[in-house]
Amino acid sequence: MLFKQQALLRQKLFVLGSLAIGSLLYLVARVGSLDRLQPLCPIDGRFGPRGQDEIPLRALQFKRGLLHEFRKGNATKEQIRLHNLVQQLPKAIIIGVRKGGTRALLEMLNLHPAVVKASQEIHFFDNDENYAKGIEWYRKKMPFSYPHQITIEKSPAYFITEEVPERIYKMNSSIKLLIIVREPTTRAISDYTQVLEGKERKNKTYYKFEKLAIDSNTCEVNTKYKAVRTSIYTKHLERWLKYFPIEQFHIVDGDRLITEPLPELQLVEKFLNLPPRISQYNLYFNVTRGFYCLRFNIVFNKCLAGSKGRIHPEVDTSVITKLRKFFHPFNQKFYQITGRTFNWP
Ligand code: A3P
Repeated sequence: MLFKQQALLRQKLFVLGSLAIGSLLYLVARVGSLDRLQPLCPIDGRFGPRGQDEIPLRALQFKRGLLHEFRKGNATKEQIRLHNLVQQLPKAIIIGVRKGGTRALLEMLNLHPAVVKASQEIHFFDNDENYAKGIEWYRKKMPFSYPHQITIEKSPAYFITEEVPERIYKMNSSIKLLIIVREPTTRAISDYTQVLEGKERKNKTYYKFEKLAIDSNTCEVNTKYKAVRTSIYTKHLERWLKYFPIEQFHIVDGDRLITEPLPELQLVEKFLNLPPRISQYNLYFNVTRGFYCLRFNIVFNKCLAGSKGRIHPEVDTSVITKLRKFFHPFNQKFYQITGRTFNWP
């Protein structure tokens, strides 16, 4: 009898204990989420006045909790009005470079309470069909945010697409432009690896990188190969400079963002006139992944998808040397224009 009573008591204690731990975890998450829902660092006015016509009535995406997840379609008109949520055009765009670390940069900047990311690549300015839909279509693709927050979009194709600088200029001539670059040969191989993986997924064969990067007739670097052309950063930047002064660009070191992300993010915070809010706490190195991952609070953290950080195929060293020699003068020009020097070979 006594034994039965003791077992019952233990069971009750177990249930009570579980409830207490559950509530505690819920509170931690909830406090974090409420914290984020407050305008933590008012920066009104830094980016000019916002539009007055923005009462979003469709699906809601808003920053919820430190997980930075956007919940869709679950807000009432009342909630939108109460929180004064709006869909704002981006005040800053990550325009490239493809495989430079654009996703990592966007996700890491989204750790900042005053930043809201557009999760998808919108491809508004580089895609004629999308562009023809007009600026309101673009704005409606943006996440909901508080007026004091800034929206950031990333579409790496913008950097290399002819028409884009003029189109962005027409939308906002004082927009801030972020370009994340990596050592050009590594970036080209990363670009190739992505395409190769796509082919393999479809059970297709593909050329070796060496065959694509080197013209077999001349034995010179094949400048018709897109992965090579994209890495000639200065050529693309020069087109942008016809519309925007260099002060409106910030160059992010994509190689450093991999090994030491915080100082790179702090430079971006400064460029965007944001108070420094991203800290070492928000970034932790995940040994299994081999990359830094994001920590929002003690409960929520995440790493980038497995498609980021692929293993590159071995490339013939003579081809690497040839490519590096080819990129060298373009890199020098890039350093000169941007005022940022890298230790690229
Ligand atoms: P690799 O796959 O060549 O390693 P993008 O987002 O522009 O496509 O860039 C992808 C690159 O981001 C990856 O290239 C990877 O090296 C880099 N990267 C930078 N920081 C990362 C991070 N924290 N997690 C995963 N990948 C990261």
